[in-house]
Amino acid sequence: MAAPAIPRHVAIIMDGNGRWARQRALPRLAGHEQGSKTIQACVEAAIEAGVEFLTLYAFSSENWKRPAAEVQGLMRLLERFLDERARQMVKEGIRLQAIGRLDLLPEACQHKLEQAIRDTSSNTRLTVILALSYSGRDEIVDAVRSLARDAKAGRVAPENIDAEMISSRLYTAGIPDPDLLIRTSGELRISNFLLWQLSYTEIHVAPTLWPDFGKKEFAAALTDYASRQRRFGEV
Ligand code: FPP
Repeated sequence: MAAPAIPRHVAIIMDGNGRWARQRALPRLAGHEQGSKTIQACVEAAIEAGVEFLTLYAFSSENWKRPAAEVQGLMRLLERFLDERARQMVKEGIRLQAIGRLDLLPEACQHKLEQAIRDTSSNTRLTVILALSYSGRDEIVDAVRSLARDAKAGRVAPENIDAEMISSRLYTAGIPDPDLLIRTSGELRISNFLLWQLSYTEIHVAPTLWPDFGKKEFAAALTDYASRQRRFGEV
């Protein structure tokens, strides 16, 4: 089946902030700061193209193990992003959502995130999903635990558990699986991102480091996607 010209759901592994900073002899945080500005360009490009869902891998569960100063800096950037962008998102018709173990985020981030999600909940132009404190394996573990609890209580018969039921227990319940995954900075890895949901997703790896990724690179990824034949395992 030829891929529809425009993917409904684009997911992005925003990689290369550290290398971008190192190339300029700047601290890693300068790369993350520039990277958080890049998000705006991609949101605009997604809206212009008619993409419905944009999922951004902003902070993985593994990222908690980075040096404390870098983690604190990333959390400050998240807070600033929410302060500066949330009001604009309301005006621009963008809905914000988040996936991951959000209870592990600093309280100030959690509050701002909840507020922004509430304030934008009725918007329909583009849904931006931030993956924060996110791990694909943890997500599956949480889904399995919830199903096991229901099975133990007799609410679910084990033989009735199917792929659809598992999808409905993931953080992404109700969101279509990504059609296109973009990874920047040339690395060929999934890095524990949306492990279940990426089963049939088309992958585009861009050599560009995330802070340099802009509308032109986003458009090139969409052009690459439009050339793909999607077969979902069929002939
Ligand atoms: C990977 O670069 C990127 C991250 C670990 C975090 C992504 C964060 C941002 C784009 C900015 C903050 C986000 C928000 C929503 C405010 P890396 O550090 O692994 O780069 P490297 O592989 O070159 O070292």
